[in-house]
Amino acid sequence: MNKKITIAIDGFSSTGKSTIAKLLAKKYNYIYVDTGAMYRAVSLFAKNNQLVGKDFLKKEELISCLANVSLSFKFNNEIGFAEMFLNDKNVEKEIRTLEISQLVSKVSTISEVRKKLVSEQQLMGVDSGIVMDGRDIGSVVFPNADLKLFMTASADKRATRRYKELIDRGDNVDFNEILFNVQERDRIDSTREDSPLLMTNDAIEFDNSDMGITEQFERICTLVESKIS
Ligand code: DC
Repeated sequence: MNKKITIAIDGFSSTGKSTIAKLLAKKYNYIYVDTGAMYRAVSLFAKNNQLVGKDFLKKEELISCLANVSLSFKFNNEIGFAEMFLNDKNVEKEIRTLEISQLVSKVSTISEVRKKLVSEQQLMGVDSGIVMDGRDIGSVVFPNADLKLFMTASADKRATRRYKELIDRGDNVDFNEILFNVQERDRIDSTREDSPLLMTNDAIEFDNSDMGITEQFERICTLVESKIS
């Protein structure tokens, strides 16, 4: 019997981490955890309580409210993956807007937020057979992960993908605003003091600017097979 492993996928925004993670989870019957959704849900909570906006962040007030933030994932059979719930409300659609993308990096710099989410993520991974994507999975959440992948792609390619996703779901967005958001999040996520986005020495890098999802997935599956057999 194959052994169950822990797979950590880190990388910049819109590099296809979640697409790969979902395919892996389906193929190997693993649990998939999108940690970005958790940071987005905390940002939505902060926005709804006027604790964060384009030009402000009420850090101390948000920290004191964190005990009131309950996050859970519930599997939706119809779409085949788990959706994000904030205080028992399905927020899967609300957390994917450009507005939340513009607030989330700021909220993610708060160490108390990170501490809460990291400990919840580590609990989800106590049994192997998990694929988790984010920014600090291989470095902080699961430093002993069996397989660490690091995804990159040019900012222009990533903004184009994100623009298409938002247009396809009916949002009215401007390409340059998306490109700016992608670059700005790269900057904040990579330079923050607590758990910045970085590629660990034992991670395998995938630049998918010009690589299709099928080719990439096949290469990653080969890596997985070498670890589980
Ligand atoms: O994966 P995503 O683009 O949905 O993530 C949204 C933001 O959340 C990202 O810009 C930074 C933050 N994040 C983080 O700080 N640590 C993680 N493990 C996952 C996401």
